[in-house]
Amino acid sequence: MSSARTCLSWPGRSMAEKAASVPPQGFLEPPLSFDLKTHLLIEGDNLDVLKILLPGLAEQIRVIYIDPPYNTGNRMLYHDRYSSTGAKTGVCDRHDSWLSMIFPRLLLAHKFLRRDGVLFVSIDDNEVHHLRSLLDEIFGEENFISMITWRKKVVRGRGNRHILPQTEYVLAYAREIATLPPFSEPLTPSMKRAYPHSDHNGPYKIIPFAKSGTRQSPRPNLLYPITAPDGSIIECPTHQWRWSRKTFDRRQDEILIQKNRNGRWTIYTKQYLREEGKERRKTPESYYDRVTTTDGTREMKELFGEVLIDFPKPSRLIRDLIGWASPPGSSDPVMDFFAGSGTTGQALLDLNAEDGGNRPALLVQSGDPTPFPNLPTIWSICRERVRRTRDRLTQEGHASLPIKEFRLIPS
Ligand SMILES: C[S@@+](CC[C@H](N)C(=O)[O-])C[C@H]1O[C@@H](n2cnc3c(N)ncnc32)[C@H](O)[C@@H]1O
Repeated sequence: MSSARTCLSWPGRSMAEKAASVPPQGFLEPPLSFDLKTHLLIEGDNLDVLKILLPGLAEQIRVIYIDPPYNTGNRMLYHDRYSSTGAKTGVCDRHDSWLSMIFPRLLLAHKFLRRDGVLFVSIDDNEVHHLRSLLDEIFGEENFISMITWRKKVVRGRGNRHILPQTEYVLAYAREIATLPPFSEPLTPSMKRAYPHSDHNGPYKIIPFAKSGTRQSPRPNLLYPITAPDGSIIECPTHQWRWSRKTFDRRQDEILIQKNRNGRWTIYTKQYLREEGKERRKTPESYYDRVTTTDGTREMKELFGEVLIDFPKPSRLIRDLIGWASPPGSSDPVMDFFAGSGTTGQALLDLNAEDGGNRPALLVQSGDPTPFPNLPTIWSICRERVRRTRDRLTQEGHASLPIKEFRLIPS
């Protein structure tokens, strides 16, 4: 844990901290080998499973995405009402109990991440404030990346007399922010259409050679006069040019000098869509509204013919998060230890198929019972979803990593 400045305290905190380090109560069947060349689906309580996995996988995971119970107090298929006594108790007790559940799991999650690893946690208004304090403490405030706001529904609904809730959050933390490469994602189709010209280097757009902005202290090597085709001298109209004189001379075939509408010489450069063989990408934003909970529900209906668990995440959301943090075509291991219906598994298999990656998924889900005879536990829904996604991708001609399944045998 980083040298903590402010610590959240609640009754039960020290017990919860201890829970992360007492030996696991059980073993995996069959015994697990840690080669990370297959998808691993594990049934069991995640605290014990994480403890069993840690010695073999410490500092090996690139992305952890989790969607823990939000402590809404609502009736769900899984337990989402925390209280230490099990009885109807006050709000404080409910928070204490949730914190004691999540704390040891987050302590362990931190240990699984590589130095360039990232943790994403979905959460809503019920516990976001506590979760953020805990993560600041465990990861260090300096490793906070963003609190992404997800607009999860657009329709009006019930929920609150004062403000209709439409959003929830994804907290993102780096294991070590200085080592984490920038996040990026593909340009949108309309951004690509903004490259309307083409030459032997592919699509390009024309941008001013003078850098915009009014910074006061220009770098001297970026300010120099340029000779126009008629021999007149062009001075930089802003604080600096984009390139040094040397680069300007070397990349002459990317420079255009034209008269603008006012008859003044203006210099432009070609900006190509592809650079060094790779298509440009953009930095993701902290407001996310590409999909809603309705998309998550629709996906589940398409896959199973009915909605088997409440509010599954839309796989596009998780696919985007993983894609931001793990480069196209990579083999970065990705973990979700509150796997639910296996949305992260589907997201990861789809992302691999899309960008040629071989990222292994490590999913943990307990065997909470369901009322469905063919899929009697949430774990069995998760497993079936990953299998069906794999089968669909195989039919579409994409190879997926093999899937291995394990179960925690409690001792
Ligand atoms: C919010 S749901 C995750 C939903 C998932 N993201 C999806 O899209 O389907 C949280 C899940 O964590 C599981 N869970 C809760 N406590 C757990 C534990 N101690 N070990 C393993 N799974 C647990 C619950 O059964 C539930 O399915």
